[in-house]
This record gives sequence, structure tokens and C-alpha cells, in this order.
Amino acid sequence: MLLIQNRSPLSDTMPAMSERVRIGLLGCGHVGSAVARMLLDHAGEVASRAGAEVEIARVAVRNVAKARDVDLPSDVFTHDPAEVVRDDGVDVVVEVIGGIEPARSLILEAFEHGKPVVTANKELLSTLGRELFEAAKDRRVDLLYEASVGGGIPLIRPLKQGLAGERIVKLMGIVNGTTNYVLTRMAEDGLSLSEAVAEAQSLGYAERDPTADIEGFDAAAKAAILAMIAFDTQVVAGDVYREGITGVTADDIQFAQRLGYVVKLLAIAETQNGDVSVRVHPAMIPAAHPLATVRLSFNAVVVEGARVGSVMLYGRGAGGDPTATSVVGDLVEAIHNLREGSASHAPVTYRPKRIRPIDEISAQYYVLLHVDDRPGVLAGVADAFAKHDVSIKSVWQEGRGDEARLVMITHRASERDLQACVQTLRTLEAVRDVSSVLRVEAEEQ
Ligand SMILES: NC(=O)c1ccc[n+]([C@@H]2O[C@H](COP(=O)([O-])OP(=O)(O)OC[C@H]3O[C@@H](n4cnc5c(N)ncnc54)[C@H](OP(=O)(O)O)[C@@H]3O)[C@@H](O)[C@H]2O)c1
Repeated sequence: MLLIQNRSPLSDTMPAMSERVRIGLLGCGHVGSAVARMLLDHAGEVASRAGAEVEIARVAVRNVAKARDVDLPSDVFTHDPAEVVRDDGVDVVVEVIGGIEPARSLILEAFEHGKPVVTANKELLSTLGRELFEAAKDRRVDLLYEASVGGGIPLIRPLKQGLAGERIVKLMGIVNGTTNYVLTRMAEDGLSLSEAVAEAQSLGYAERDPTADIEGFDAAAKAAILAMIAFDTQVVAGDVYREGITGVTADDIQFAQRLGYVVKLLAIAETQNGDVSVRVHPAMIPAAHPLATVRLSFNAVVVEGARVGSVMLYGRGAGGDPTATSVVGDLVEAIHNLREGSASHAPVTYRPKRIRPIDEISAQYYVLLHVDDRPGVLAGVADAFAKHDVSIKSVWQEGRGDEARLVMITHRASERDLQACVQTLRTLEAVRDVSSVLRVEAEEQ
């Protein structure tokens, strides 16, 4: 039996401890049940790495009668999560209920009782993260959240610890597995968006209501958390410019392929002259770019540091078991810290920085126009681009007659100029429709 000695100068805030560390699990759904299974199946590894045996003491769920995919005694279950947080027999709280409330109040109450919290809750952290991090700091307890971004990919710890001395200039990643699955199936197998979404739902990658994924809300929450860590400033999901994938057509994907690109839903966070910009939108990236090879439900993030250059982190961005790996990793760290009487995880720091609006970014653009098929059309279109200072890199006409389209790629231009150019294009008699505009990333600097 391992004996935990309470060597803490903070002993008044710490739970009375025995030779075991007892976990209060809030939620036993996809992630919670996988966490419980991992703690049972890997009990030996977890105990030796944490320096204490880990016991699942209490589990809160909405419906205690529901069958669970984990072998736990029925008397650990309760429908009252506050009872778990307040229980003197619980040393560490794992919050995998999700959503804002009651998760927020439960986490704050755990801190009041001096209990560290491990959470996977991106929605909460990208909305009220600052309140929670400051409360954890005040109470000198851990709030660990590796699973909130990138599921099973170690992302938060490498950013906060491995790259702690680095100046991060940009993060670019695929942080939503559902949309990456959908875009991969559209590109590789010619499925329509709705067919690919239906398939993702049938495989359990997408929720019955897939809005949070396909409209980019999930990716925006993750982008906000990554930007907050990378740039030491407050970024909330509402600060993130967001476009989902519902406007991406089979034509866009085919033209991308012919031009040597792949369409991905990207989360991009960058800093320039002390400002921060964070955005989530579909974009074309060169087929040779490492992110272009990230297929199906996999996720990856490329971190660019001033000195280290590019670092890419790749793996399973969701799913119970991969996500549980991150939760249990945090749990081991929280237990270590609890035993040492510290909350050594580098706290989030907040320096005020301006969030740049989208019209101040610059990118290359792909523009697809449905046009009249007659002489002089291209000249008129080129004039509109020139008038707004947007330089065309390549253009070709696709189809004849009613099917005539112009496919254009620009050089790097400002978003404001490009949007003004699109407004002008819409007024041209020869332009029947501006069918698509997509940013092209990771090519020209
Ligand atoms: N699923 C993933 O792949 C994944 C990946 C990364 C992060 N996350 C995050 O992990 C968290 C959990 O996700 P999940 O997919 O595991 O969700 P889930 O399958 O819906 O599980 C939620 C669990 O919380 C319980 N619950 C909900 N409200 C409750 C309440 N008021 N009181 C007590 N219990 C309550 C539910 O009880 P019942 O079972 O009785 O309904 C269920 O066990 C979310 O923050 C999510 O964003 C998930």
C-alpha cells in the first residue's frame, strides 16, 4: 500500500488523505466511462506513475438506472453531482459532464473544497475559462484540461511546458474530426456534403444534430483555448471568426484537386505586432502540406515557433478511449501535485492583447464565378480585381455557354480588399454568381 504524506503548506485547503486517492467522476458517458475503464484496466501503471492507488469513489450521472459500459459497483453512482464534489471521501474531481452549467458551479465548488479538477470541457473553458483559471489560482489547486482540445493528442502540455520558453507565432490545425471525415469522403470518394454527414452520423463521428461540428463551433472553442495558451491572453469562442463547411461544394473540392490543393476546415491562430487573430474556416492548402495528409477523423496541429520552427502534433482528436488517455494523464499529474502539496502546473497568464477582426488578415483566395460566355467578360472581371488591389495569380475558364465559370487564385491580398472586390464582382452584369470564395493557406508568405 502506498502512503500519501501530506507535506503541503496548504494543508488547510487539502482533503484528508489516506493511501489511496479517490476520484469523483462527474459524468459517465463516452469519455467518463472510458476514463473509468482505463483506471480499472491500467490500474498498475497509473498507480506507479501517480505514486498512489486510484479509486473511483463516486460517479455522478443523470440517470442512475442506465446500463454503463464499465464494471463499477452500483453504490458509487448518484444523480447528484454536487454530492460528489462535497464528499469528504473525494480527493480529485474529473468533470466530463460537458456544457456550461452545472459544470461551472461544480468546478468552482470543488476548488472551494481544495480539490483539483480535471476537465475535458472545451465549451466551458472557451467561454468562462478565465474565471475558472483565476479561481484555481486563488485556491492554489490544479485545473487541468488536456482533453479539451485534440482528444488524445498531447497538445496543451507541449504548448504550456515543452514550448514554455518559445515565442509561438502561429498555430494552424485540423481540430474537428467530424468535418475532416466529411471533407475526406467528399474529396476521395465523391460523396456530397449531406451524404458524408449522414455517414459520419451512422459511424458515431457526428451527433444527431451536427451543427456544432459542421458550422465550426466546436473548432472555434478549441481554437480559442489554443490561442489563449499560445499567446498568453484572454480569447473566448466569441472572439473567433467562424465559417463552417456547409458552403463547400463538390466543385470546390474538384477544382482544389486540379490546382494541387486539399480543402480542410482549419483553425488558425496567429500573432502579429502584438495583436492576435483567431479564425476557423474551410481553406485550400497545398496537397504537399503535412496537414493535407491528415485524413478521416484524425486531427493535427502545426505550431510555429520563432526558434523551433514547425512542430506537428497528430492523432485521434476525439472518441472515448483517446480522450480518456488525456484525462488520465492529467489525473496522474493532479495526483502528483496533490501529494506534493503543490499546484505546479504553469498558470494561464493574461496579458491584454487586441483581437484582430477578420478584415485585417491577409491570405490568398480561390474565387469561383459563374459568368456569361462572351468576349470581354474576363477583362471586366480582371478590372474589378485590379481596382481593389487584388492581384490574380491564375485563372481559367471551365465549361461553355450556361455552364461557363471562371476559376481564379489570387496572390496574397487583404481580406478587406478581397471582400470589396467580391462586392464589385456581384454588381457586374457578366457575373451571374460569385459561387465560392475560399482562403488559400500555407502557400505564399
Ligand atoms: N466524446 C468525445 O469524443 C469528446 C472528446 C473530447 C472532449 N469531450 C468533452 O468531454 C465532455 C463529455 O463528453 P461525452 O461525449 O462523454 O458526453 P456524454 O456522452 O453526453 O456524457 C455526459 C455524461 O454526463 C452525465 N450528465 C450530464 N448532465 C448531468 C448532470 N446534470 N448531472 C449528472 N450527470 C450529468 C450524463 O449522464 P447520463 O449518462 O445518465 O445521461 C453522461 O454520463 C464534454 O465536455 C465534451 O466536450 C468529448
